[in-house]
Amino acid sequence: MFGEIDRPLVIALSKGRPLLAQLDLLAKLGITPSEDIGKSRKLVFPCNHPKVSLMVLRGHDVATYVEHGIADVGIVGKDVLLEFEGDNFYEPLDLKMAQCRMMVAGLVDEKPLPRRLRVATKFIETAKRFYAAEGTQIDMIKLTGGLELAPVMGLADRIVDIVETGNTLIANGLEPKALICDISSRLIVNKVAFKTKQAVIDQLIQVLTEHTL
Ligand code: PRP
Repeated sequence: MFGEIDRPLVIALSKGRPLLAQLDLLAKLGITPSEDIGKSRKLVFPCNHPKVSLMVLRGHDVATYVEHGIADVGIVGKDVLLEFEGDNFYEPLDLKMAQCRMMVAGLVDEKPLPRRLRVATKFIETAKRFYAAEGTQIDMIKLTGGLELAPVMGLADRIVDIVETGNTLIANGLEPKALICDISSRLIVNKVAFKTKQAVIDQLIQVLTEHTL
């Protein structure tokens, strides 16, 4: 259980599917927002714990707020961190939540592939690194969602996307072609806060570790 702390702590959480699991985890530590985050349009919430506040942001913005030290710590998907440019934070803990895989996928009934692949993704850096390591030349097509449509409609030969259950791939006549890496939620900690708020952050890491074993 998260105990007495001497310094205020700002925690940034990622919006969307993983938010409930993040709130459940914090509830296990005894940290609960003082109003229902799901029903509110607010973005920053006081908590039952007087010195803790929560921010709820898109994943990339969680990393940006922690990068700049506005949030001391954040919970964010590894998929976001793989794309993020900054490095003013540490990533001390794999929370083992929101587990899924970053995969290359393509049509089940695929025609022979061209020598230069057209790859659609929103995970540009991850895809670049993967194909560079493979030595495959690609043309990148940047999309922001609904990636599965790209091979179906002939926009791309392959996609690089997150696969959780695999249902979206199946529903669109696609299949995994290669695993790039496993993905899960990570705790990130601003580098300055790691020093200036060492006691509270050590305590947070310790209780989180106990609840994620
Ligand atoms: C993600 C991902 C896939 C889908 C995979 O999209 O991009 O489309 O989930 O999940 P599954 O393997 O369980 O079917 P999301 O729903 O987050 O929306 P998006 O397409 O807008 O990114």
